[in-house]
Amino acid sequence: MADTIQNNNVVTPTKKRICPKESSPNDDFIVKKLATWEDPVSALANARHEFGEHGGVNMSIEASATFTVMEPETLSRMFTGELGPDRDFFIYSRHFNPTVLNLGRQMAALEGTEAAYCTSSGMSAISSVLMQLVSSGDHIVASHTLYGGTHALLAHFLPRSSNIATTFVDIRDLGKTKEAIMEGRTKVLYFESMSNPTLTVADIPGLSRIAHEKGVTVVVDNTFAPMVVSPARLGADVVVHSISKYISGGADIIAGAVCGPTSLVNSLMDLHQGAFMLLGPTMNAKVAFELSERIPHLGLRVKEHCHRALVYAQRMKKLGLKVIYPGLEDHPDHYLLKSISNKEYGYGGMLCLDMETEARANKLMDVLQNQTQFGLMAVSLGYYETLMSCSGNSTSSELNQDEKATAGISPGLVRMSIGYNGTLEQRWAQFEKALSKLQDSGLFSKK
Ligand SMILES: Cc1ncc(COP(=O)(O)O)c(C=O)c1O
Repeated sequence: MADTIQNNNVVTPTKKRICPKESSPNDDFIVKKLATWEDPVSALANARHEFGEHGGVNMSIEASATFTVMEPETLSRMFTGELGPDRDFFIYSRHFNPTVLNLGRQMAALEGTEAAYCTSSGMSAISSVLMQLVSSGDHIVASHTLYGGTHALLAHFLPRSSNIATTFVDIRDLGKTKEAIMEGRTKVLYFESMSNPTLTVADIPGLSRIAHEKGVTVVVDNTFAPMVVSPARLGADVVVHSISKYISGGADIIAGAVCGPTSLVNSLMDLHQGAFMLLGPTMNAKVAFELSERIPHLGLRVKEHCHRALVYAQRMKKLGLKVIYPGLEDHPDHYLLKSISNKEYGYGGMLCLDMETEARANKLMDVLQNQTQFGLMAVSLGYYETLMSCSGNSTSSELNQDEKATAGISPGLVRMSIGYNGTLEQRWAQFEKALSKLQDSGLFSKK
């Protein structure tokens, strides 16, 4: 009897097999869908819908560390790689787990890659994939504007632990980026689709072209722009995510993902050489289930984050504030983003206000949180509440003064992840009230 009945991408469960004997390839659907990938929301709707063991509309959680077999020979066939998850054979949940694999399928559909697998944090996804692709003595070229943790990994941790050096460049300068690539030695070009915190937008097609000319793998962190930008569809080889942000949306889970070719995901799980298998950045199946329930409304959430960020940025600019938002026409990357983004999602849910000094930035955040309740002083992003932090002394504090200056991080830069709870006008009134208070205290003067 067939284990599943497949009809228009819907997989109806019949009886859960205990000991699969016949091949039941269930991964190749992603490869087929890749050819027709149009945008993230359609791809997610086209992806296989996994039902629960008893016909539940939601998938079951395979909360097992280990998996049983009926015949002793099966174990050794799984360990040689002859029988794998593509045929519904699972060994142990630090290796593939069915629930985490299902979340991986959603991530692959979202990013338009052949495959994906999820990890316990964004940093573990980033460090694992870099250690997989780059060996001792090799070299990475990376953007000089990156999340502080990633910058520290590349600038300090990898040179010490693994003899992997990184050259940081201004990726807006394609010529300089090309020059920094040492043919044969440089293995990865690494950057963020939209940089944390400066919101510069990467020319993904151009950067991918120059990297590929020199045989270099392009790895893009798309944490700031899921749905808005699809790096793999623009030429990147690998997309990494901190799922802890927009994809989770709840500010309650730390998680990550690596999206890319099936061969890369399989190499990460290799029993002898795989960074996922051997470093063990494993996602729990219960967490994978929780996250998989949130991906279907990611598109709706992102649209509202982006809509409000655009409206606020336009209004803030009118008030004479120094606002950085790629949705504004005077942002240097506005037209680039317009040309590479998926239509209808907007320009991202993050904006920055440059208050010039740390004292003014702190005062603004203090009033916005403690007097007018516009948002919360907290790092991270993608939450339904607005989150605000002064990047220089928080999420970019790993960069020294020179590195911050090179990256364009002013000491008074307030990064805001614009939330969507409350009404837009209610929140805007709270923002304006806070500005009036700052005016009263002489810290801000309206245009
Ligand atoms: C752009 C970016 N990438 C990666 C990370 C790391 O993700 P995680 O906190 O899930 O490890 C962060 C965290 O702030 C981030 O902003």
